[in-house]
Amino acid sequence: MQKNKTNIEDLLSETRHPTVRPAEDRSFEEAAGILRAGGLVAFPTETVYGLGADATSDAAVTRIFEAKARPRFNPLIVHFTDVAAAGEEVVFDARAEAVAERFWPGPLTLVLPRRAGSRLSLLCSAGLDTQAVRLPAHPIAQRLLAEADLPLAAPSANASGRISPTRADHVAESLGGRVPLILDGGPCAVGLESTVLDLSTATPTVLRPGAVTAEDLGALLGPLAEPAANPAVKAPGMLSSHYAPDKPLRLGAETIAPDEALLAFGPEAPDGAAVTLNLSAGGNLAEAAANLFAFLRRLDESAARGIAVMPVPDEGLGTAINDRLRRAATPRSEPQI
Ligand code: TXA
Ligand code: MG
Repeated sequence: MQKNKTNIEDLLSETRHPTVRPAEDRSFEEAAGILRAGGLVAFPTETVYGLGADATSDAAVTRIFEAKARPRFNPLIVHFTDVAAAGEEVVFDARAEAVAERFWPGPLTLVLPRRAGSRLSLLCSAGLDTQAVRLPAHPIAQRLLAEADLPLAAPSANASGRISPTRADHVAESLGGRVPLILDGGPCAVGLESTVLDLSTATPTVLRPGAVTAEDLGALLGPLAEPAANPAVKAPGMLSSHYAPDKPLRLGAETIAPDEALLAFGPEAPDGAAVTLNLSAGGNLAEAAANLFAFLRRLDESAARGIAVMPVPDEGLGTAINDRLRRAATPRSEPQI
């Protein structure tokens, strides 16, 4: 670490241009050094890119909130290399153990009671008595966690209220000079943020749908609670306008106006849009999920007036896709978080 000292100090100070690095040996050393010194590193996970910081340091976690302009009442997910490390910070009951055994590492976050002696910064819980924890499956995320030898608090690496990044250049665009190092792992395979499952209450509740579906979880846990009418109460980051692009979205579109961009799905995309991107011409939901955020960004940058979105089947992964589309279509009248 000594030999990198000057470089790290340099990287911790305000930088105008983030460094996007391929994930090679030197980049991991540099990234681990920045994290141990309390700085930020953006890294790929199988879901979306995360903006990581030492979860045990108040100062480091504060940097996350500042870089994203994220309100401090919105808690953070902490990432670990193994279940034992997570178990030092939160309490796993039999349900949590079963779910972790079946779905970790993977695109699933568990909300569990925080241990009294937890080393994690209280800022990660944002005043709640629970902590969200996850073991990512992506090899770059796993190697970074191992080399830094720290639990990493990591929200999606976008400015608060914007679409989550699924490519390294999305992070660079969204966070500009506020993150000194971005590890480039190419496009994220899943493309939607992790499923958030609340196991801190008697009946398990899916607070955010994702690639691990309610059906998958129900098969293991039995009946799940209906998500609260106002999920913002339980998961502050789930206010409905969380994922908004700038252009208005029109959902369930069967026809298209000439000044609209079209986000299509399946083989029967109508003609006549100013610009069309097809989430999956073959109607594959996993392919559609992986493309969703990147395509929304591209259409948002187009000259079209608005974005028309074809219906996506509301089953399996389609539930999570439709959840993000509904949020993206909600006018940004609520406070942005
Ligand atoms: O896929 C993902 O989950 C990515 C990658 C980087 O892991 N992370 C991510 O973090 O999406 P973020 O902060 O953008 O979204 C986390 C969501 C927010 O809606 C937050 O409010 C909720 O999880 N959350 C975090 N801690 C919570 C807690 N203790 N109780 C309830 N909800 C919580
Ligand atoms: Mg987010």
